Amino acid sequence: MRQAGRYLPEYRAIREKMSFVEMCRRPDIAAEVTLQPLRRFDLDAAIIFADILLPLEPMGIGFHFSKDDGPVIEKPIRGAKDLEGVHGIDAASDLQYVMDAIRLVRHELAGETPLIGFSGAPFTLASYIVEGGHSRNYGHVKKMMYADPVTFSRLMSLISEVVVDYLKAQIAAGAQVVQLFDSWVGWLGPYDYELLVLPHVRFVVDRIKGLGAPVIYFANGASAMLHHVAKAGSEVYGVDWRIELDRAWEQLGDVAVQGNLDPITLLGPPKAIEERATDVLRRAGGRPGHIFNLGHGLIPQVPPDNVKYLVDAVHRYTAAAI
Ligand code: CP3
Repeated sequence: MRQAGRYLPEYRAIREKMSFVEMCRRPDIAAEVTLQPLRRFDLDAAIIFADILLPLEPMGIGFHFSKDDGPVIEKPIRGAKDLEGVHGIDAASDLQYVMDAIRLVRHELAGETPLIGFSGAPFTLASYIVEGGHSRNYGHVKKMMYADPVTFSRLMSLISEVVVDYLKAQIAAGAQVVQLFDSWVGWLGPYDYELLVLPHVRFVVDRIKGLGAPVIYFANGASAMLHHVAKAGSEVYGVDWRIELDRAWEQLGDVAVQGNLDPITLLGPPKAIEERATDVLRRAGGRPGHIFNLGHGLIPQVPPDNVKYLVDAVHRYTAAAI
């Protein structure tokens, strides 16, 4: 999940001087910020500093981050007419700055730590594009699904092509694993997820599988429909914290699983962190294919020392278990 960010003073020092999007667009800065958590903590992987919304601009969809409301899409797409002028991308050139950052980080890591690339999954990107930003109930995007399924499906297909191109370019630039973040599918019921969203996830996964970089599909908030999520065809699934890891694994089948400590646990004292991390590890039961992770991203209020405590506790536990 997110491991760089505002909880680190060294991140805030750079962020004071430029906007978040400017940071993403400067490969030297993006590489530096990617490496910041690795200097502090004994992490087993790096994740490239970027954002799921970056492909929107080359698609012809302007956006910015507002101080209070997070991402804001300038002209949300609400119908077929709004789709005119929205187009596919050539990620290797349109998002060259991301690829340059990946190359820089790979060079710095010198083969010692693997680098994860990522993209938003089709529905999560569609929900930003249609809602225009964060949403309480996803009314606009759901209304489009029900009342104008042709436009919804055209939008999802267009985004899926963009995601495939974006992930392929990241792999070509050096990403060794890629993660698909489906942050908002948890607001869908299983009927709509299976019928209207899952086929697009499968489309993306099918095209990325076999390129030499495993795909991690993370469907946030989807613990009540993991039996559908499991049909995405991925080799690795991210799991949020709303379900016990062993129960999730049972439903996902013979795959690798990443997860799933509640990230807010990190606001608690070391003892509380260790108890809950140990519960996750016990439920993984030493099975091959468990990647310990948070069940979602770090929040800015997390004390960095607690992250260090967690990373070290997980290594202590797994070393003792071996
Ligand atoms: O650890 C890393 O370095 C990975 C970097 C990363 C970011 N965004 C950096 C970021 C990753 C993997 C993402 C993915 C992302 N972006 C997701 C999917 C994961 C998830 O959390 O579900 C989503 C939904 C987004 C969209 C987005 N970008 C949001 C909702 C926000 C927060 C807005 C806010 O004001 O809090 C962002 C901004 C963002 N992306 C920040 C970072 C470090 C904070 C920007 C800042 O410094 O102000």
